[in-house]
Amino acid sequence: MSDQTRFLLSESDLPKFWYNILGDVPSAQTPVLNPQTFEPVTPDFMSVLFPMSLILQEISTERFIEIPQEVREIYKLYRPTPLIRARRFEKALDTTAHIYYKHEGLSPVGSHKPNTAIPQAFYNKIEGVKAMTTETGAGQWGSALAMACNFFGVDLEVYMVKVSYQQKPYRRILMEAFGAQVFASPTNLTDFGRSILAMDPNSPGSLGIAISEAVEVAAKSGGKKKYGLGSVLNHVLMHQTVIGEEALKQMDLAGEYPDVVIGCVGGGSNFGGIAYPFLRNNLKEGKRTRLLAVEPKATPSLTKGLYTFDYGDSAKMAPIVKMYTLGHDFVPPPIHAGGLRYHGMAPSICALYDAGYIEAVAVPQLSTFDAALQFTRAEGIIPAPESAHAIRTAIDEALDAKAKGEKRVILFNLSGNGNFDMESYQSYLSGKLEDYEYPKEAIETSLKKLPQVELV
Ligand SMILES: Cc1ncc(COP(=O)(O)O)c(C=O)c1O
Repeated sequence: MSDQTRFLLSESDLPKFWYNILGDVPSAQTPVLNPQTFEPVTPDFMSVLFPMSLILQEISTERFIEIPQEVREIYKLYRPTPLIRARRFEKALDTTAHIYYKHEGLSPVGSHKPNTAIPQAFYNKIEGVKAMTTETGAGQWGSALAMACNFFGVDLEVYMVKVSYQQKPYRRILMEAFGAQVFASPTNLTDFGRSILAMDPNSPGSLGIAISEAVEVAAKSGGKKKYGLGSVLNHVLMHQTVIGEEALKQMDLAGEYPDVVIGCVGGGSNFGGIAYPFLRNNLKEGKRTRLLAVEPKATPSLTKGLYTFDYGDSAKMAPIVKMYTLGHDFVPPPIHAGGLRYHGMAPSICALYDAGYIEAVAVPQLSTFDAALQFTRAEGIIPAPESAHAIRTAIDEALDAKAKGEKRVILFNLSGNGNFDMESYQSYLSGKLEDYEYPKEAIETSLKKLPQVELV
């Protein structure tokens, strides 16, 4: 075996199709219900929020969906992304494992989010939509959609969780540089925002609240504005499969095949994106790669949530879906991985987890930052705090392999760089960060407010 470190593909290797897991595991498609009537949603209901091309992708069971040429042209600005063998990291860990990572932090705005932002802006544009609304937590998704909307000449309003708006002014400025309007959520621009501010004028906001505001603005715009979501939905996870499709080819170049594929999970899109093409090989080619989703102990939806129907947002305006949830009014603790502070999880990931196709683990904040810095000091890259969760678990797997004397091939998704997250690193380095485990009782209280829908 050579001592090669970077495994690169050429532009002509850029995937031509997205992979749809629902084509191979139809049971991963679960009902989506109208939040008022609890009846299955109709395309008409969904079309208030989304363009028809994305609604059709959402319900499609085609195994592969062609990536439009216009989207591929923009993907070429940063794709294919490199697969890197973390040789220095392996040495630092003194492990028998081989560790590879897919570097999604090299996209123009620094994460995997443009993989879906670009097609979402594209489909809105070709269906004549002039403006979009969205929410953002840490700011990675808002920046990605701001860039994509700018490329396609679509206006964008971003409802940014207030605590991040205050903590991350540079993310806001990046969105504004692309021409987006950014508001600190809760705002007084929406009924829901005003209702939250009336209860608590100093509310720090949450992803659930910001989603409600962005959905409300689109729903009341009389069709002028549509809404874009950066995770959770089937079409979003499908757009992200460019990561796994490229990684399959690159592992081939490396002459190895992963025993375990690891990704952090907020709504599930970067994990689904890297894992689903490997799951296809498990299903179709008899491979036995373990697929491991990593969440924070502070927002443990897969590992401590209930698998049931719940609203996608706090105001109960977004559709009800079947997912592992901590309850739609769950107020996430102020941990530093803003992108992982969502009460639920992509329904397809939940169904696959429930059926045993994938595994999940929850890790604490402090050892996650410790893992991030071990990685930084070996590989020279400062990871996004979200991605650091995958690194924590990659280290645990590498040390476990060493303890058992095994050569284990580990692949993890570096979903973003942490260049805008210095405030989090400063808190960690100055000893201000604490571990936080969401208390069982708080989850139980939140779960009492679930919609009363019969499980199917
Ligand atoms: C760098 C990064 N990784 C991961 C996530 C989590 O999202 P998802 O689970 O959809 O990949 C986010 C969300 O903002 C993010 O910014």
